[in-house]
Amino acid sequence: MSKHESERNEIYDAVGKLNAYPFWLIQGDMEPEEPRVREIPHVWRFKDFEPLIAKAGPIVPHEMAERRAFIFHNPGYDMSRPYTTNTQYIAYSFYMPGEIFEPHIHTPSASRMLLRSDGKGYTTVEGEKCYLERGDLVITPSGTWHDHGNEGQEPMIWVDMLDIPIPVLFNAAKFGWDYKENGVSTDRQSATRSQHYSKRHYGFGGLRPRFAQTEIGNRNSSPQLHWKYTDVRAALDAVRHEAGDPYDGVVVDYVDVMTGGPIQKTQNFSMQLLRPGEHTLSHRHTNNAVYVCIEGSGYTIINGEKYAWEENDVFCIPSMHWHEHVNGSGKVDAVLYSVTDSPAMDKLGLRWEERKTASGDIVKLGNVIPA
Ligand SMILES: [Fe+2]
Ligand SMILES: [Fe+2]
Repeated sequence: MSKHESERNEIYDAVGKLNAYPFWLIQGDMEPEEPRVREIPHVWRFKDFEPLIAKAGPIVPHEMAERRAFIFHNPGYDMSRPYTTNTQYIAYSFYMPGEIFEPHIHTPSASRMLLRSDGKGYTTVEGEKCYLERGDLVITPSGTWHDHGNEGQEPMIWVDMLDIPIPVLFNAAKFGWDYKENGVSTDRQSATRSQHYSKRHYGFGGLRPRFAQTEIGNRNSSPQLHWKYTDVRAALDAVRHEAGDPYDGVVVDYVDVMTGGPIQKTQNFSMQLLRPGEHTLSHRHTNNAVYVCIEGSGYTIINGEKYAWEENDVFCIPSMHWHEHVNGSGKVDAVLYSVTDSPAMDKLGLRWEERKTASGDIVKLGNVIPA
């Protein structure tokens, strides 16, 4: 026993009884040189889920499942943390023909990426009824009323991407279900906006009608709510002969026409084209990222390990994992959709990125910590 050890232990016991602790005993845990990342990279394969979705649809009635969704649970977590990454809550959600899921509202920001439907599935956001086709994105910014339904003959499957762990961290996750129109509860919103209202008003790049209604939900999110995949694919094709981004290929971000910035306060949305045979350089960053393969197939090398993906697969790249993307085909395009928490990180000053050059040198792009 070293000198004064028993006296120190007595102090520690006494301090513990006062609901405090000596900082010097846990300093290494509190001030890590590298973020302690519990999350593990993982691919959720659509072909594994497809038969389960087909089985569950008819036998899990709406009364049992306010949301009929399989949530992606990061293998680095136990059930006390039912999330996909540290800041993201992602799921395959599916809706049977004729189903209606009633209006609700919440502080978390949400989004849907449509994988499969016959074009008759919809989500209505603040009175704008958006029918979704494959690759379409609809956002439901924090504080917007929204309801979902499927008027088609086929099940509708989409990927939900929410920021729930962020409002939970702030003790600010709040939901409301009592939707009324003219004082009367109703199971769906009336379509108070005409078809494709937001796309027609905000979907023309540098042009915005002066009379457009720009406030939606808790504000500060994009007033455009719906992006058609055909438009996004055309935007990618328009720049496919440029060099592109060395780390992400030919990539476009969905932007708020009012600000030029991200379309939600906590989430950034991107679509990236990997041309036949394209292999990006490696980088790592504090942003957590979740990807969905929309076209083609390939693999992503994450911390030296190969994670293969094909259409409709979902995979995550947790904070500070080196990653590079590869289109596995020499003939056809691969397209990846992704959502990160970069807007939240930027607002909080938490952005950190390191890039490997083609020759393997590491370039550090810190935010507040000297690079
Ligand atoms: Fe919701
Ligand atoms: Fe990245």
